[in-house]
Amino acid sequence: MQPKTAEASKTIMTDLVLPSETNPINNLFGGELLARMDRAASIAARRHSRRIVVTASVNHVAFNRAIPLGSVVTVEAKVSRAFTTSMEVFLDVWIEDRESGNRDKANEAIYTFVAVDETGKPVTVPELIPETDLEKERFNAALRRKQLALVLAGKMKPHDATELKALFV
Ligand SMILES: CC(C)(COP(=O)(O)OP(=O)(O)OC[C@H]1O[C@@H](n2cnc3c(N)ncnc32)[C@H](O)[C@@H]1OP(=O)(O)O)[C@@H](O)C(=O)NCCC(=O)NCCS
Repeated sequence: MQPKTAEASKTIMTDLVLPSETNPINNLFGGELLARMDRAASIAARRHSRRIVVTASVNHVAFNRAIPLGSVVTVEAKVSRAFTTSMEVFLDVWIEDRESGNRDKANEAIYTFVAVDETGKPVTVPELIPETDLEKERFNAALRRKQLALVLAGKMKPHDATELKALFV
């Protein structure tokens, strides 16, 4: 399988925040943002693998900034690292100022997707090549995050999480 760049998976989704998508104080409902990020991330993972992909875990979400009703929200997703059958996808969420057009970072998240065949069995994915400094930084930390997710899910024993242990010794 030919390795692919992170850029090749880049997916950008821009949409408005409508009244039906807000909480009682007129900010975007958290679950709505999670769904938007899941959709963008799944397209990025699909572009990288060219397979059916399923969400395996949401590794990290930071709702740092509320997103008001009427905002123009852009979700950018890119595969940050590919393992054997799984892919880590990084999401950056931006709000666009109506008058200046400038973008402010509102939130970020990290999801894991697994490529599967028609029966739901995991299948291998191409290697990912990071190019920019940010892509390399995210790529290098991804194994640590994968081990943490597996330990938390009870799928890896803590003493096998070598990358995690290296953080503390
Ligand atoms: C995700 C899924 C395919 C993994 O199946 P599995 O039987 O655990 O398969 P494996 O143990 O072979 O793991 C496959 C890959 O998933 C990764 N994985 C499994 N659980 C994970 C978790 N909680 N976090 C991160 N990665 C995980 C494994 O590390 C492995 O990655 P690798 O091949 O790149 O090393 C399976 O659990 C599934 O189908 N889940 C439901 C998915 C779904 O419906 N999502 C929508 C939610 S509503």
